[in-house]
Amino acid sequence: MIKGIGMNKFIIGFLVLITQIFVANAQESSLALIPYPWSVEQGTGEFLFTEETIFYLPQSQERDLGAYIQEKLLADQNMKVQVKSGSPKKGEAPAVNFLLTKNKEIEEEGYILSVQPSSIQVEARTAKGLFYAFQTLRQLMPVQPSALARIPSVEIKDHPRFEWRGLMIDVSRHFRSKEFVKKQIDIIAAYKMNKFHWHLTDDQGWRVEIRKYPNLTDKGAWRADRTGVSWWKRTGATAEEPKSVGGFYTQEDIKEVIEFARLRNVEIIPEIDVPGHSKALVSSYPFLSCLDSATFEVAVGGKAPDNALCAGKESTYDFMEEVIGEIAGLFPSQYIHIGGDECNKTNWKKCPHCQAVKEEHGLADEEELQSYFIQRMNKLITANDKKMIAWDEVLSGNGAKGAVIMAWRRGAHSPQLQAPQEGYPTIMTSYTYSYISQVQGPPGMEPEGPKVVLPLSKVYSQEPVPEALSPEQARLIKGTEVCLWSEFTPTAEHTEYMLYPRTIAHAEVAWTVPAQKDWQRFQEIVPTHFQRLEQQKITVSNSLYSIYGSYAYSPLEQTGRVFLETETEGYRMLYTLDGTAPTSGSEQYHGFLTVSLGQEVKAGLFDKEGQLLGEITSLKVRKDNL
Ligand code: ACM
Ligand code: ZN
Repeated sequence: MIKGIGMNKFIIGFLVLITQIFVANAQESSLALIPYPWSVEQGTGEFLFTEETIFYLPQSQERDLGAYIQEKLLADQNMKVQVKSGSPKKGEAPAVNFLLTKNKEIEEEGYILSVQPSSIQVEARTAKGLFYAFQTLRQLMPVQPSALARIPSVEIKDHPRFEWRGLMIDVSRHFRSKEFVKKQIDIIAAYKMNKFHWHLTDDQGWRVEIRKYPNLTDKGAWRADRTGVSWWKRTGATAEEPKSVGGFYTQEDIKEVIEFARLRNVEIIPEIDVPGHSKALVSSYPFLSCLDSATFEVAVGGKAPDNALCAGKESTYDFMEEVIGEIAGLFPSQYIHIGGDECNKTNWKKCPHCQAVKEEHGLADEEELQSYFIQRMNKLITANDKKMIAWDEVLSGNGAKGAVIMAWRRGAHSPQLQAPQEGYPTIMTSYTYSYISQVQGPPGMEPEGPKVVLPLSKVYSQEPVPEALSPEQARLIKGTEVCLWSEFTPTAEHTEYMLYPRTIAHAEVAWTVPAQKDWQRFQEIVPTHFQRLEQQKITVSNSLYSIYGSYAYSPLEQTGRVFLETETEGYRMLYTLDGTAPTSGSEQYHGFLTVSLGQEVKAGLFDKEGQLLGEITSLKVRKDNL
C-alpha cells in the first residue's frame, strides 16, 4: 500500500513535471515565427507598446527603413509610431532601439533581437539585418490588430542558412500586373526571402520593353485568346486572328518595381530565355529563326514548334547584344538569367547557318552548338559586368564555364550533383520539391494543373544540400528557389493560391538550419500566417487540410480497403459511409476501412473544437484498378 501511495505521489510529481515541460514548450511554440530563427530564448514579462513608443534608428536608416516600419505597423496593427534617429535618453519611456554595430559575431544578414519589458534592442551589422529583425518583430505582434500590442520577452539570434532565397514567377504564359508583382515581393520580403527571379520571356509572350526593338512588345507581348481550352490542347494562332491576351512592362514600370524591391532587400533577377522558349521573339523578328523567310505567331499554349533562335547567324548575336545591353542597364542585379532550357534543336540540324558554325568551330553535335551559343551569351553578359545564370541543360555539350546553374531536372540528369561536382555555383530549383506549379492536394479536389502533387509538407521537407557532395562542393550551393510556371494559373487569385502557403514553407527551407526545422510546429503555426496573409488580401490555399483517399479492391472478397491519409498532425479524420457530409460526431478513422463495391466514403479533417478544416474528400471503390 505504502509503496503504492509513494508510487502515486511519484506519478503525480512526474505529471506535474511533464505538465510544466509541456507548458514551457507550449509557450515556446506559441512564437509563430516563419522562417524559424537560429536561436530563440524566451524570458518573462512583456513589452507594451503605447502611443508614446518611439522607434530609434541609425540616421542612415531613418528615411527608408523608418518609413517602411511606419507603413507596416499602421497596416498591420493600426499603430502610428514615431521614428527618430539616434538612441533613447536615460529615463525615457520604453523604446525600440535599432543599432548598427560592428559586432563580428553577427553575420551579414543576421541580427540579435532582445525584447524586455523595459526596451526592445535590435543589433545588426547591416541594413539587411535590421530589416529582418523588424520582420521578426512584426510576427511577434498579435494577429488581431492592436495599437497597444504586447510582445513577449525573448532573445532571438538569427541569420540565414543560404544567401539565395528565391521565388520565380513566370509572367509569360499568363501576364501579371506590376501591382501584383510588387504585392508578392512585399510578402516574400516579410518571410526573409531576398531574390525575385522574373521569368520575363517565353513562347507565349515577351514582357519587357526593349527600346531598340519595339516589335518585341508591339507583337511579342500579345497572343490569340484560347481561354477555356485546356493548355496542352490548344491549337496555334493564325496571322489574321486578333491578339488580345497579354501585356508587358515598360522600362519605367520595371524601375518602379526594382525600387520597391530595393526597399525590401529583394534583388530582381531578369530572365531572358534563349535560345529555346523563344516563339514570341521569333514572331516579332522572324530573321532570328533558322527558317529564313518564314513568319510566326506568338504561341497560345499547346506545342510551340520552331521556337529556337538560330545559333548560326551573326545577326542573332548582334540582336542579343542590344537586348542584353538594355537589360543590363535596366536591372541593377549582378545577374542576368539567360534561360538555356529545353531547346528544341531540330531546326539547327537542318540549318545551313548552324551547320556552318558547327563546322567552323569543330563542334561535335548540337549540344556543343548550344554550349557555343551560351558561351557567346556569357561574353555579352560579362561585357556588361554581370554574371550569367542558366538552367541546368547548359551543362551538356561543353558546359557553360562562368555560369551559375539553376538545377531543376530530376531523373537520370542529377544536375544537383553534377553542377557542384563540376565546380559550378548552384541554386537548387528542384522539380521535385520546389516546382509549385504542381498541384498541392488530391488532384481531383484542386484546380487544373500538372498531374503531379507537391504538398506543403513535401516543400517543407526539402534538404537542399545532397549528402553525396563533399564539403567543398556543398559550399557551391548558394541556396534555393521556388518556381511558379504559369500555364495553369490564368488569374491573380489562382497564382496566389499556388504561391501560399508553399512559398513560406520554402522560406524556412532557405533560411532555417535543419536542427531548427520542425514540420509539426510549422503546420501548427501556419493558420496564424493564413490570417496574416489574408489581412494583406492574399489568397491562400488550405489544401493541407484535404484528406488523401486511396483504395485497393479485392476481387476475391469483392470489397475495397480504403486508406485515408493527411499531411497534418494533431487533427482527426472523421468519415461517413452513408453519403452524408461528415460532422464532428462522425466516426474517426484509425486504420483502413473495408467497404463494398460502389460504396461512397466521405471524409474530412476536424480540429479539437470540432471544426471542419478543409474540403470533404469523397471516393467510391471501383474495379478499375485491377
Ligand atoms: C524549366 O522548367 N524548363 C526550367
Ligand atoms: Zn540556324
